Amino acid sequence: MIKVLFVCLGNICRSPMAEFVLKQMIEEKGLSDRFFIASAATESYNEKCRAGIYPAAKETLAANGVPFSEHYSRQIRRDDYGRFDYILAMDAANIGDIISIVGPDKDGKIKRLLDFTPYPRDIKDPWYTGNFTGSYLDIVKGCRAFLDYIVKNETQEKREE
Ligand code: 4NP
Repeated sequence: MIKVLFVCLGNICRSPMAEFVLKQMIEEKGLSDRFFIASAATESYNEKCRAGIYPAAKETLAANGVPFSEHYSRQIRRDDYGRFDYILAMDAANIGDIISIVGPDKDGKIKRLLDFTPYPRDIKDPWYTGNFTGSYLDIVKGCRAFLDYIVKNETQEKREE
């Protein structure tokens, strides 16, 4: 089981979009039973007010045919580091905030999602830019590249067995 935790600042825009985009991709590839996918925030305020996915993020998923279910923001916890294989942040600031909560990245699990693409960079926060479609398209590119990386790695491991 490959366990993936997407992380952003609030866990109401980018990381839930990434969670449901990757869930759809693995479903389409028939790989759903091989993955556990979740998302979390670096900040605690949205968990405290039990915030759900932001309406504009839901609208963007729906407009692009990505199914999603109810999700409430939760802050990443120290023990998530051991529970997940990949901790995929949206931007560089997230990485610093994640490490301040989980401790040093001794197993190299923490990456930005777009680090799996040929153009490693941040995914801008649509909460501030208002550009939900732009962030969604970045998330799709990142998830495709991440899944390609996983499929290649898995194939490699099988060949080596
Ligand atoms: P996200 O966006 O990190 O992509 O979920 C944000 C959502 C809410 C807030 C900040 C960023 N906020 O300040 O509540």
